[in-house]
Amino acid sequence: MSVQVDFEAEIRRVGQALADAMPTHARNPLEAVDRKAMELAERDERLQAALLRLVDVTPACRSLEDLAGHLKGYLDEVGERPPSLDAAMRAAHTKAGRVALGAAATAGVRHMAHRFIVGESPRDALRAIERSWAEGIGTSLDLLGEATVTQAEADRYAERCADAIATLARAAAHWPERPALERDSLGPIPRTNLSVKVTALTPLIRPEAPHVGREDAARRLRPLLRAAREARAHLHVDMESVDALETTEDLFFSLLEEDEFRAGPSAGIVLQAYLRESPVQLERILDRARRAQREVALVVRLVKGAYWDHEVVEARQQGWRPPVFESKADCDRNYERLTRRLLDARPLVRLLIASHNLRSISHAIALNRLSGGEDRDLELQVLRGLGDDLARALARSGLRVRTYAPVGDLMAGMAYLVRRLLENTANESFLHDWRGGAPLEELLAPP
Ligand code: 2OP
Repeated sequence: MSVQVDFEAEIRRVGQALADAMPTHARNPLEAVDRKAMELAERDERLQAALLRLVDVTPACRSLEDLAGHLKGYLDEVGERPPSLDAAMRAAHTKAGRVALGAAATAGVRHMAHRFIVGESPRDALRAIERSWAEGIGTSLDLLGEATVTQAEADRYAERCADAIATLARAAAHWPERPALERDSLGPIPRTNLSVKVTALTPLIRPEAPHVGREDAARRLRPLLRAAREARAHLHVDMESVDALETTEDLFFSLLEEDEFRAGPSAGIVLQAYLRESPVQLERILDRARRAQREVALVVRLVKGAYWDHEVVEARQQGWRPPVFESKADCDRNYERLTRRLLDARPLVRLLIASHNLRSISHAIALNRLSGGEDRDLELQVLRGLGDDLARALARSGLRVRTYAPVGDLMAGMAYLVRRLLENTANESFLHDWRGGAPLEELLAPP
């Protein structure tokens, strides 16, 4: 009991120190995000559903006109539209109107995108990445574009990834030393870090035939692993919706089990705590990591999960029980349990805590300290545009922190932006509470 009390006290101490290290305006971290869009999405669940469906068709849209046509189709079903949206939709009856609607939507999105997307290409992004590095914040670059529909697009994505690794590694060779970002107790940590999405590496993801997508993606991922090894870069394979989970996990481990990758590169996978199955998935991941007998630790990024709305809508349509926890407290408790299990699994794994929730972060830092770990053995990750102030506070506190930074054009970024919009308008999100000025004590309470 008293151990538990001490632990909670330590979590509060860590959380208080981090809050103190944040600039005061950070109490309103979403200020620059398009609040109108937020309010709109908050108001109507059907609008959220419309946005999700828009995301589903974006990869197949070839022009603004096309995108606007779909947008109109979905919005037709949304009740109680604000007058501005109604006017926009009347315009969508003509081709010129659709182009204008597409352009207007794009302008709105561009405003929001600017905060979340770091540039159109890795080269464009370099300056921002270097500025962060100077402040003691690392970056994982994410090339926008997912759910590819053609082989040519998947090839193009793989080329962009190879180019990103080369561009970043060339630049990183000249960066000043930042010891907190470059080494933990297991050894060196790469400066160059790229996150990739499997649905961008193959158009053939089919949950009923995971091997088809796996083999198609493998022929594009294998050269990227080689490139990462040569460039001493870290390659992180993202998790997406559950449709792609089995393909992603199998692809990742089947490649890393190959002899040529035994000594490198550093590679990572993602565990989504909102999945009811995640504790089982974690045991499977640890088992496969053990069997792969690699010389470098497996990196596991622990997230809550970004596809909640998609999973719930999808399951309801099929009449299935959603694969995700539907209560935030259940998800947060699971996150803490998985944190503990992952910290216990060291040195087999390196743990990345990816969350904007001060409680989840403080819990991980406190648990690591109380179990005798060093701060440098834990990496904290945040999303560009949402966690910037948090990242600075973490870096100032001497912790290892990295920003996940997407690169690409707007069309490719649409799905990513809608995910950010949905998770941040959710009534239960931590940022939502924080924005509303909830007391720190409450925000740091056990879930
Ligand atoms: C996403 O793409 C951050 O990987 C996460 O939504």
